[in-house]
Amino acid sequence: MIPDSFIQDVLARVDIVELIDKHVHLKKAGANYAACCPFHNEKTPSFTVSPTKQFYHCFGCGAHGTAIGFLMEYQGLGFVEAVRELAASVGMQVPEERFDKGVAGQGAQFGRLRQLSERMAQARGFYKEALKKSEKAVAYLKERGLSGEVAARFGIGYAPEGWQSLQAVFPDDYNGPEMLATGLVLENEAGRRYDRFRDRIMFPIVNAKGEVIGFGGRVLGQGEPKYLNSPETPLFEKGHELFGLPQARQALREENCAIVVEGYMDVVALSQHGVGNAVATLGTATTPAHVQKLLRQVDRIVFCFDGDAAGRKAAWRALENALESLPDNKLIAFAFLPEPEDPDSFIRARGKDAFCRLIGAATPLSDFLLRELGTRCDLTTSEGKAHLVSEAKPLLTRLATPLLRLQLVKRLAEASGFSQTEVERLCGIRSYATPAPPKAPRRAPSLARILLRLVLQKPARAAEVPLEQLPVSAERRMLETIARSLASLPPEPGYAQLREQLRGDVQERELDALAGELISMNLDATAEASDAEFKAAIAQLQLADHKAEFVRLQAQARQFGVMGLSGEEKERYLALLTRKKSPEV
Ligand code: UTP
Ligand code: MN
Repeated sequence: MIPDSFIQDVLARVDIVELIDKHVHLKKAGANYAACCPFHNEKTPSFTVSPTKQFYHCFGCGAHGTAIGFLMEYQGLGFVEAVRELAASVGMQVPEERFDKGVAGQGAQFGRLRQLSERMAQARGFYKEALKKSEKAVAYLKERGLSGEVAARFGIGYAPEGWQSLQAVFPDDYNGPEMLATGLVLENEAGRRYDRFRDRIMFPIVNAKGEVIGFGGRVLGQGEPKYLNSPETPLFEKGHELFGLPQARQALREENCAIVVEGYMDVVALSQHGVGNAVATLGTATTPAHVQKLLRQVDRIVFCFDGDAAGRKAAWRALENALESLPDNKLIAFAFLPEPEDPDSFIRARGKDAFCRLIGAATPLSDFLLRELGTRCDLTTSEGKAHLVSEAKPLLTRLATPLLRLQLVKRLAEASGFSQTEVERLCGIRSYATPAPPKAPRRAPSLARILLRLVLQKPARAAEVPLEQLPVSAERRMLETIARSLASLPPEPGYAQLREQLRGDVQERELDALAGELISMNLDATAEASDAEFKAAIAQLQLADHKAEFVRLQAQARQFGVMGLSGEEKERYLALLTRKKSPEV
């Protein structure tokens, strides 16, 4: 694990403009720099780099990050590799990797996340050792054809049979709150703790930083449930994570293609047989977040599902969720295995070449879409043809890509016998040639939003915001997180340092989305102007708070008379009343 302080030092020394300019030619645009986005295909530049805040942001595809994030996405590096490369570029060397227990000065939230991931790492170590000691677990994996090498690559382990095996690993805090939060233990009605995973083959789920964030556990042989997965925890958000992603990184870069399969064993078996670019969703449907994550790294995704009804259903869900995040230059296709095979059994039985042929011959998204819709309508009747268009409507409207949409409209027109314009009209979509209507005026941002923007410009300000006076909202939660993280950041941290501190946090993506405002409002103005705006916003917040208090006390006084107020309330009321009469209010 690289110490946070080292990461902060690297970020403080590196210049993101210089770094990105080596790969993508940047042009000065006001206070910032701009270029055509390297992460999606575009003709007018929406990729912006802020020299003062040290981050990049694309208004087209949402790509966002610091210098570290750029290297990870652009060169497909892992987190540690990216830090190492950046450090080397400014003549720094990553200190020997060593883990200090309970580093002093950690912010509560980050200290907590760190404590959880430390426990997960310890558990993984224990499960790995336990696998070596368990004859029956080793025999099971052998019987399934796994090599020791691939088992090591995926960190596969074994959770022993006992109810409290982890007690020996965590003698001091098996019963503590952190263990419950990791999802590694459960509590029965009598409040007694026991291990969630018992007598199961363990598959660690690892994030981009190489940290274990969850586990999938399979029974040896028959049993219910076949797989048990970690619950969602502060470390683990299922709809965002993919099993096998860190192991696949290099292959994804080389192949420029990701294969999405359904099972842990599928990923492992494919890797063992030389197909390294496969990842799996975690017992959930493919989400837009999955698709976006992959399309940042590759130009092509092939979903490889079973050939049965369940597989087709999963493919259809994946299609629906891919539509929104699909730029024109990216390809999505679907490969179906002959029943009753899954990728694991298929590649074992027929080998790598046969599997690669199947992937190469995958059905493109548009074909799959039309074919599936076609099976729901009787295209020999005119009702059926109209039905086809109405079924396509919700999908077409979700499609962000003008070219793919046009292509689909044309094919729908062919299949239905309507003209292209008729299809467009029936689906309520603008024709490709018609210009977009003017955007609706933006609503004025809330005070919380304004404060958040000002805090993102200068994170140390978070400590000065009276958070309890803000109504509960996404913005307030983010402000709270930032305020907490200050403890583990150097004094006067910049945005980039805050952003890296939040890597892996559940609010990471939310932060990315928000930070776009930092550039678009271009309030990189002067420090004085920005300080003055912040002061004014805090004053406004306090004023709103006083007003609300005044109105409440006034109502109370009207209803029950001044006697209805306690001594303290009376004093407050009078103070607010006089303040109200003073000219500043
Ligand atoms: P499958 O039933 O296809 O299992 O579930 P598999 O991956 O082929 O596993 P083996 O070959 O029988 O060992 C696919 C995925 O669905 C999730 C898991 O993520 C699994 O890898 N799943 C399945 C669960 O979460 N729970 C279950 O009980 C079953
Ligand atoms: Mn299987």
